[in-house]
Amino acid sequence: MNLQQKLNYRTQPGGKLRGNLRVPGDKSISHRSIMLGSLADGITQIKGFLEGEDSLATLNAFRQMGVTIEGPTHGKVTIHGVGMQGLQAPEDALDLGNSGTSMRLLTGLLAGQGLAVTLTGDSSLSGRPMRRVIDPLSEMGARIDSTASFTAPLKIVPPIRLQGIDYQLPMASAQVKSALLLAGLCAEGETCITEPAPTRDHTERMLRGFGYPVRSTGNRVCLSGGGRLTACEIDIPADISSATFFLVGACIAEGSEMVLQHVGINPTRDGVISILRLMGADIALLNQREIGGEPVADIRVRSNGLQGIDIPEELVPLAIDEFPALFVAAASARGETRLHGAEELRVKESDRIQVMAEGLQRLGIQADPTPDGMVIQGGVIEGGRVESYGDHRIAMSFAMAGLRAAGPIEISDCTNVNTSFPGFVSAAAEAGLQIDEVTK
Ligand code: S3P
Repeated sequence: MNLQQKLNYRTQPGGKLRGNLRVPGDKSISHRSIMLGSLADGITQIKGFLEGEDSLATLNAFRQMGVTIEGPTHGKVTIHGVGMQGLQAPEDALDLGNSGTSMRLLTGLLAGQGLAVTLTGDSSLSGRPMRRVIDPLSEMGARIDSTASFTAPLKIVPPIRLQGIDYQLPMASAQVKSALLLAGLCAEGETCITEPAPTRDHTERMLRGFGYPVRSTGNRVCLSGGGRLTACEIDIPADISSATFFLVGACIAEGSEMVLQHVGINPTRDGVISILRLMGADIALLNQREIGGEPVADIRVRSNGLQGIDIPEELVPLAIDEFPALFVAAASARGETRLHGAEELRVKESDRIQVMAEGLQRLGIQADPTPDGMVIQGGVIEGGRVESYGDHRIAMSFAMAGLRAAGPIEISDCTNVNTSFPGFVSAAAEAGLQIDEVTK
């Protein structure tokens, strides 16, 4: 495809979702498997790795730092770990594309490595706030240069040794927590982080899986620097954030029934299930099991009329990536849905409050953005043209709205769906949603 050309989606109106589907591997866990596998002693074998652009950006970054990584081949990756001090300075800047997780976690991981590294990204990533990692890492003794507005490119300058920190996180962010834990691995003494609300705990779980002691009590997590990681095997479940589009689609399209297979249902990620159930969704967790330290289930969903609700604020961090799709569920529900306490949505791959409100309004739905959320009146979704602003989750959410729309929905700029969900259009087609890809 010519780089000037843009990929748009056009959905055929109506349809229902049926069948069994295993969506691609969990993005958060895929990133962390490359990071810890690279720093471990020995050979780490991964299966279920997400072959999306974001996790591949992390994989390529470690290759640039001298780590031998085989694959991915059908989700299998083999990492020849170099140990805690084995990374080499890359010759060029590490280009992390659209991936906020790569940039924030790598900033922490590299802050104490003693290597000069520059981290860059695309225009969306270059506009995202990095001060949230720069400030606490600087307190630990790191030196990280950025633009005047604390955005990328980030230049990590080799520091003297990092010191552990006892840090109260100002916002609920797993990326900041993880960046500090990864910096803490090579810091002197103890690093402790207290979060205002629980966020995804994949870093803590995976560190333990690599044999590294991590102490968690309530919302506080601590580790001591100077230990080692021992290579292991990692089986990555399907990403609940990608499964969400089909969960919502099946809830809102009459006559739907799907089973989403082998989905990670970690309690720090399952807010979408709780919220949809509060709205009246028919969702069952089948065959619950634990795989490699992460809870997994097959999720059965059947269409059911949804009801608008006040979304409980404590569920926000547990469903932080699922709100674009949940807004579509709210637009299809009876009555009003209100969301508060979700200002973090404004600093994701796009301003997800503004962009979703604008798109829903274009489709004839009353959606009123507020500084920290949105109020949506359920109604009839019309066909029309919406902008995704290059945000993968916005694009996939509006695609699902097509199931309830009175006419075709054209969605602009959908190339970045490949960051988290390669194969989305064919997975949707197999389940019953027809999406035409139009290059412009
Ligand atoms: C992620 C944490 C969340 C989430 C992102 C992935 C992670 O970001 O939105 O998609 O893997 O740690 P924040 O920490 O900024 O909330």
